[in-house]
Amino acid sequence: MKKILLLGSGELGKELTISLQRLGCYIIACDKYLNAPAMQVSQEYEVFDMLNSIILKRVIAKHQPDLIVPEIEAIDTESLKDFEKKGMKVIPSSRAVSLTMNRDKIRNRAKEIGIKTARFGYAETLTELIKIFNNFNCKVVIKPVMSSSGKGQSYASTVSEIKKAWTYALAGMRGKKKKVIIEEFINFDYEITLLTILDSKGSIHFCPPIGHIQERGDYQYSWQPAKFDQTIVKQMKTIAKKITKDLNGQGLFGIEFFVKKEEVFFSELSPRPHDTGMVTMFTQNFSEFDLHARAILDFSIPKIELYKRGVSQVILANKNAKGNFVIKGIENAFQDKTIDIRIFGKPKTKPYRRMGVILASSLKKAKAALSKIKVVNI
Ligand SMILES: Nc1ncnc2c1ncn2[C@@H]1O[C@H](COP(=O)(O)OP(=O)(O)OP(=O)(O)O)[C@@H](O)[C@H]1O
Ligand SMILES: [Mg+2]
Repeated sequence: MKKILLLGSGELGKELTISLQRLGCYIIACDKYLNAPAMQVSQEYEVFDMLNSIILKRVIAKHQPDLIVPEIEAIDTESLKDFEKKGMKVIPSSRAVSLTMNRDKIRNRAKEIGIKTARFGYAETLTELIKIFNNFNCKVVIKPVMSSSGKGQSYASTVSEIKKAWTYALAGMRGKKKKVIIEEFINFDYEITLLTILDSKGSIHFCPPIGHIQERGDYQYSWQPAKFDQTIVKQMKTIAKKITKDLNGQGLFGIEFFVKKEEVFFSELSPRPHDTGMVTMFTQNFSEFDLHARAILDFSIPKIELYKRGVSQVILANKNAKGNFVIKGIENAFQDKTIDIRIFGKPKTKPYRRMGVILASSLKKAKAALSKIKVVNI
């Protein structure tokens, strides 16, 4: 029985835990708050800040896991490198985890290996930021180099907006380093996640492309398959192959692209299941969690089949949400006998927090179900 230390215990970690347990694994779920979704289904749990290297090392030493599986970015990656050197396996590899934790590191690597991205630059002061903005001479996106789920991210088209974006980015950044990435705004037609699996023998497998819509830097709904001209799919696959092979290791990667007419831009990558990939629980013979589990346990990857079209629609808390809550209207939503719902079981709510997801065969059905469900403060 493989012992797995799961670093991050959100909804993605919960589904991964279930997939791994079905293959006989023992899971220790970690997160900084008690009763996080994956802790509700794991054999053991640990509550601590995974950016704290002393505690992280202590927890790893205590459990002596066969695999360390990150589910989030906010982890002290230097500790992971140390344990990897001592022979412990980090998924997909400590290098991949460390490079993707910082937007600048993965962006620089993508550039080095010749992958096309939006034009970008970095700034550590407002003066630098304004200088790059003036050079770009177009609408831009500003993001802290360390953040996720749209935190600290904003758009700017004027110098006064740049000033606001700088302050906003500093407030939303993770870690102490004041550094932002400034990117040319791509007015894309579609935004795509290509779930790519690198198996233990180094072979690559793909899931059919997933389209998604984002608001406030966070996904609202996704659909699969996203249909494209084969030449676009080919471009995405070539990039996906190049970057996953470069990062190395084993597991499933969520690779984000922007598509504008015939052009494909690499945006970013998560070396783990992707939130927009929750749709695969409805559409595929094996979900992204099952596939990640197979890959990290050194098993062969099954033939990936799309059973049907599908949409995943997030159930969010409202903008005034705080603390205790109940979710109402599920029975009403289930009057449509074709939909499915996952409630994540987060113990508390906060503004716009993702509390669950609706899985349906069309966006219309997903929205109809959503209109019946309310996250109510109590
Ligand atoms: N250069 C860009 N041009 C247009 N839109 C962008 C650009 N960069 C980001 N966006 C929009 O903002 C969203 C969030 O940006 P990004 O994926 O870089 O960060 P994130 O989602 O916060 O990171 P993570 O996925 O790690 O949580 C994108 O999905 C996209 O909709
Ligand atoms: Mg993203």
